[in-house]
Amino acid sequence: MSELLGRDFLRALFHAGQRLVEGGEEDSATANAVSALEIAASALTADGSEAVIGLVGDSFYLDRKLLANASTEFDSVLQAMKQRRIETVTLLPGAGRGDLTDLAGLVGGRSEDLPAGGGVLLNERHMSPGEIELRPVSSLRRTYSQSLGSLRGVSRSRALHLGDVQAVVDDFLAGGAGSSSSLLMATVQNHDERTYYHSVNVCLLALALGRFAGLALDQLRLLGLSALLHDVGRVVVDEAALRTEGRLTNEDWAQVRLHPQEGAIAILAAAASGQEVAAAVALEHHQRFDGGGYPDLGGRRSHLYSRMTAVVDTYEAVTAPRPYRPARTPADALAILLQGAGTVHDPDLVRLFIEMVGAYPPGSVVRLAGGQTVVVAPNDDAGMRGVVVGDGVAGSRLLSFVAADVVAQLLPAEAGVSPGSVLEAAEHEAALRR
Ligand SMILES: [Fe+2]
Repeated sequence: MSELLGRDFLRALFHAGQRLVEGGEEDSATANAVSALEIAASALTADGSEAVIGLVGDSFYLDRKLLANASTEFDSVLQAMKQRRIETVTLLPGAGRGDLTDLAGLVGGRSEDLPAGGGVLLNERHMSPGEIELRPVSSLRRTYSQSLGSLRGVSRSRALHLGDVQAVVDDFLAGGAGSSSSLLMATVQNHDERTYYHSVNVCLLALALGRFAGLALDQLRLLGLSALLHDVGRVVVDEAALRTEGRLTNEDWAQVRLHPQEGAIAILAAAASGQEVAAAVALEHHQRFDGGGYPDLGGRRSHLYSRMTAVVDTYEAVTAPRPYRPARTPADALAILLQGAGTVHDPDLVRLFIEMVGAYPPGSVVRLAGGQTVVVAPNDDAGMRGVVVGDGVAGSRLLSFVAADVVAQLLPAEAGVSPGSVLEAAEHEAALRR
């Protein structure tokens, strides 16, 4: 499964770049991150031949194989490489620490030093579209990257253009938001751009819930716009508090609690159609069903889209890892939603959401009675399918199972897998066999 090694390398590269920017070269966390990068690089070249990571269009390729999932996960690495016109990175066996540090510094935007040791070559190889396996990148994936870009734009310019944001939501709707694969897309995480990934995931989940609830296209457009912007107050206001590594201090917390108002103000300042509802959702998404929550709005009932956003916001937040706590399983998140049904959340919407995602949404990792560990694949038909992982399984194996076969739900980290990459590799193998 070289796709997984490619993904591990990109993750290590991303982390090393971040640590270099934040701590500098002398920092011990940086040294650890660079060591992890060395290990990932040597795993890629373990067979003694070079490994080529290429950038074609909006996707990473490893030795001509598409890394679709990793392209979304490490969108910022992709954008940094594009900006520096790096089309291929060639790793030679035994690539040195100095070269890898230079590469990470370049990708992290810390320095302009090119790797000069001879173990890492930039733009020395070429990937022509004829050579690579051109598989259509799903439009959901492309739109995911565009929505991250539009949120980064809001953060950079401190200006919100609702028309641009609506355009990405419309692309999502045209590209299959609401399908089972869009639920899988909504599990992509990236800790360093947490708010952006969270916002896009909440948008995808809200659109799926809206579709499931039978909303019309116009309503879905407005729901999607509102969901994508629900935390825009965090984008505009408090990057510093967001990047904190530990629990929030009281002061940070006070700042964070202002984000509903800040978001609503930013949206209302961007005169455009749909802004009243989007502003209401930004203002109300931390309102509880029983009138509590923040800010204090006098206990009046929130807009339907605010209540929908609150449900999917909670689900996404619980299943995502945070600096101060690990991610929790979808089963845990559903239990938390159920516990809050009627107090924190609108009980009808909680029930609808649970019915929609099912007990084991795509990307869940489960253990079956037969002992296998399985990553649940998207499935639009009846019955469940999954890819068997671990236990020295060579290649991947697709398996059908029923809910009664499941004995436990695991965290991806416990099982040592990246669900998106596992499913991607399996899909790829299946396509090769066809
Ligand atoms: Fe929020």
